[in-house]
Amino acid sequence: MSDRPRLLPLLGATRHGARDAMTCLYRCGNACDHPVPNRSDNPYFGDLVDAEVSRRGVVRAGAAGALVLGFGGAVAGALAGAAPAAAAPAAPAVPGAGEAAAPAGGVGSGALTFKPIPPNKLDTLVVPNGYDHAVVIKWGDPVVPGAPAFDVHDQTAAAQAKQFGYNNDFVGVLPIDRRRALLVVNHEYTNEDLMFPGFTSQEALTVEQLRVAMAAHGMSVVELERVDATGQWRPVRSGRRQYNRRVTALATRFELTGPAAGSAWLRTAADPKGRTVIGTLNNCSGGVTPWGTVLSGEENFNQYFVGGDGAPEELKPKLLRYGIPTDVRYPSGSRKWERADERFDLAKHPNEAHRYGWVVEIDPFDPESRPRKHTALGRVKHEGANVIVAGSGHVVAYMGDDERFDYLYKFVSDKKFMPGNSWVARKHNLTLLESGTLYVAALEGNSAAEIDGTGKLPADGAFDGRGRWIKLVSGNRSYVDGMTAADVLTFTRLAGDKVGATKMDRPEDVEPSQLTGKVYVALTNNTDRGRAGKAAADEANPRNLNKHGQILELVEDRGDNTAESFVWSLPIVCGDPTDPSTHFAGYDKTRVSPISCPDNVAFDATGNLWISTDGNALGSNDGLFATAVEGPERGHLKQFLTVPLGAETCGPFITKDNRSVFVAVQHPGEITGASVENPASTWPDGDFAKPGVVVTWRLDGRPVGS
Ligand code: FEO
Ligand code: CA
Ligand code: CA
Repeated sequence: MSDRPRLLPLLGATRHGARDAMTCLYRCGNACDHPVPNRSDNPYFGDLVDAEVSRRGVVRAGAAGALVLGFGGAVAGALAGAAPAAAAPAAPAVPGAGEAAAPAGGVGSGALTFKPIPPNKLDTLVVPNGYDHAVVIKWGDPVVPGAPAFDVHDQTAAAQAKQFGYNNDFVGVLPIDRRRALLVVNHEYTNEDLMFPGFTSQEALTVEQLRVAMAAHGMSVVELERVDATGQWRPVRSGRRQYNRRVTALATRFELTGPAAGSAWLRTAADPKGRTVIGTLNNCSGGVTPWGTVLSGEENFNQYFVGGDGAPEELKPKLLRYGIPTDVRYPSGSRKWERADERFDLAKHPNEAHRYGWVVEIDPFDPESRPRKHTALGRVKHEGANVIVAGSGHVVAYMGDDERFDYLYKFVSDKKFMPGNSWVARKHNLTLLESGTLYVAALEGNSAAEIDGTGKLPADGAFDGRGRWIKLVSGNRSYVDGMTAADVLTFTRLAGDKVGATKMDRPEDVEPSQLTGKVYVALTNNTDRGRAGKAAADEANPRNLNKHGQILELVEDRGDNTAESFVWSLPIVCGDPTDPSTHFAGYDKTRVSPISCPDNVAFDATGNLWISTDGNALGSNDGLFATAVEGPERGHLKQFLTVPLGAETCGPFITKDNRSVFVAVQHPGEITGASVENPASTWPDGDFAKPGVVVTWRLDGRPVGS
């Protein structure tokens, strides 16, 4: 087999849904081409008809580049000088529950009065009338004071390690005071062919270029300042900027915590104690904790490793379950980082892969602090983690494992949250994710016999049912036969297989509403659902060959986020509203926006649910949507923005004062055949594509969405 990365054919039936081949190659190492890693014999195994594969729409760069200034720019010009009607209220020092006021109609029913924007294929960022937007920061901009100016023709790892990284995904904005905040961003992966002029192949990259890519991964912390009294924010460009920091895959040291830290699985030649890891990989989404830190999910770490064929035989099933092929040295899409650092070669360092796939915690208010990888939260392809403080004071983190047929998890801390911002409280709360109980979800429908894979709604009018949280490990005690606590936490997927967890349609973001405690899960898609030998549709994943995904709402018993059982339903089954298999909580489908492939979710201050998409299989650019989740407007989904050609909408983040919506524009112009010299997108500067973070605000200064 060739050891070269290969781009997939532009046309024809593929497993990649609406994603471009370049996305599949760089983002997840062509994960869809690899066998589904979950081959466990869980319930719902089916042997259904292998029907037609979805056809991916091919996107090409066009004349739309002329519109690069965007609608927002035009609106801004027309309204230049208009003063905001209301100054923003002071921001709280630490984000958390109970800060936002519920609307008069009840939590989650705040009116979303903006006029939805239409689906489009423009190479610009489009927002509703009455809103403006601005790029906050983009790839190559300075982060650490003294960072050299970005020069695409003269990139070095040392420069990149001080500059804003590539492919921003998670966005968190943590207030310092009313006018300043810290922006914390994940840099999930790199597109070498859109980064390096003259790119020909991964093999032809110099070792220094590979090191640039490693430095462009990780995270950024950037101090922001509010622009006048508007919802716009921009980086502070002078002064100490004491918090500004880059975390990279190249050099940042992480401490492993929890029961698996120091275990034999995590020891390597360079770290014989198994407690310190260099770098973080493929940081996708995340969450802001109630104690003012940021969590970041290490997701498709498998693509960074080669040499699985040379790993010890007893490790091979474990590597395979995490998507690392064990029959070839160079899997399709591998990044060849072993040329820069041999620890990425599993033939030499077989345990190195186990040191990724964790939830990372960083304290952005302590720039000298060492980030940590929390083994107590398990090791999967973590999309992210979002925390809520339960009524008992224990903290609960909800997590998804983003792979076809993988599982939903939650963690409940041993210790209780200590309110306040004192030094004592802060020190205590930083230990909350180091010990606790890890659960995996099993879901049962109440109309199981009626689920035929078409998406036809059951007679009871809902895809819904009950579920239970299956205990995997608590502290050092394992509840899984034949596995120690360290085994369960390091090979959590295998533990989930053993206890009969429910195979889901790619669980991405899982986030509790801080106002209601209800949990929302973005299940992005699963075009393998119902294929021969794969799990068939069930009530929580009700469509075979699922191209468009669904949103699941989970309500814990007694409203207690530490409960071990719950009820669930699917308020939104995505797609074109004219498609009879779609469902918008019973709302009039002629009035909702089409949506496909939900990925990240967020809440505004009144509890409305905001949903961003990745890989729109309906043919238009990805975007951001919002809907009420309670009251008569529940299911009235409206499209708020679209991102430029080839991009995915990440983030999103709505500030607690409800005046600013941040999104990350990830991989603009990621279209097969594009390059620095021949870009498919010229966003945001009119030359070549650069990922960047955008803020959107209402020109009249009123709350966003209203
Ligand atoms: Fe990185 Fe699950 O998206
Ligand atoms: Ca039902
Ligand atoms: Ca994601």
